Amino acid sequence: MSVQSDVKRLTAPDIFARKGGEPIVMLTSYHAHTARLADKHCDVILVGDSLGMVMHGFETTVPVTLDMMILQGHAVMRGSARALVVIDMPFGSYEASKEQAFMSAARVLKETGCGAIKLEGGVRMADTIRFLVERGVPVMAHVGLTPQSINTIGSFRAQGREEADWGRIEADALAVAEAGAFSVVIEAVAEPLARKITAQIAIPTIGIGASVACDGQVLVMEDMLGLSPRVPKFVKRYGDLGPGIDKAIADYAADVRARTFPGPEHVYPMKKKV
Ligand code: KIV
Repeated sequence: MSVQSDVKRLTAPDIFARKGGEPIVMLTSYHAHTARLADKHCDVILVGDSLGMVMHGFETTVPVTLDMMILQGHAVMRGSARALVVIDMPFGSYEASKEQAFMSAARVLKETGCGAIKLEGGVRMADTIRFLVERGVPVMAHVGLTPQSINTIGSFRAQGREEADWGRIEADALAVAEAGAFSVVIEAVAEPLARKITAQIAIPTIGIGASVACDGQVLVMEDMLGLSPRVPKFVKRYGDLGPGIDKAIADYAADVRARTFPGPEHVYPMKKKV
């Protein structure tokens, strides 16, 4: 017997078909409870390797492992029903060879049931993307600022702010589109470059710090909710949940210390004798 939900999940081809149409809404989530909330409003939920920094407190995404991504991918799949779930391939799980990339991507798809993977890199990853797509792995690419390269680029600074740098980033976007990626994240690039790339390539561009010129947008959920201690300049805060959570925990701690929690209304009563 197969267990199927009534809700049809969006697929990579559905997202590809949105090129130039209704903007694609994408947000990160790493847990079932936040996935449940995002699923109501988003087309794509990204289990980003930003979870290494956001959830685990690492300085960069480099230490994140494939097992970490798969574990949180499971949680997000359980919490969502409609959005396409895309899981990031972490640093070291795909760059060595096309075969390594396929084995890692196959694990992610088989073990989580997600609909696509994301990997960083443009021209240098194009052959790998083609190899994966030909073998049934939908790939979302990621160009511009690629945080997994932090140790070679030196800082998380915006890319393509001078026209001289545009050629490289344009070539990256073109290469991943031609290799068969169904969409591409463009991170932290100047608006005219994002606009030019979006007009040039046949797949949807999903911007993060790359202007409204893109076909869709993505943000890290904790950044837009005001839960991250430091956020990039391009993040718009749609919530300020940090102080609310701080107050709730402080109130709880005060109640426990004053022995005012649990009160009688929060304790199971004795069963009445019959
Ligand atoms: O890891 C992540 O959350 C990402 C987004 C910032 C696009 O790659």
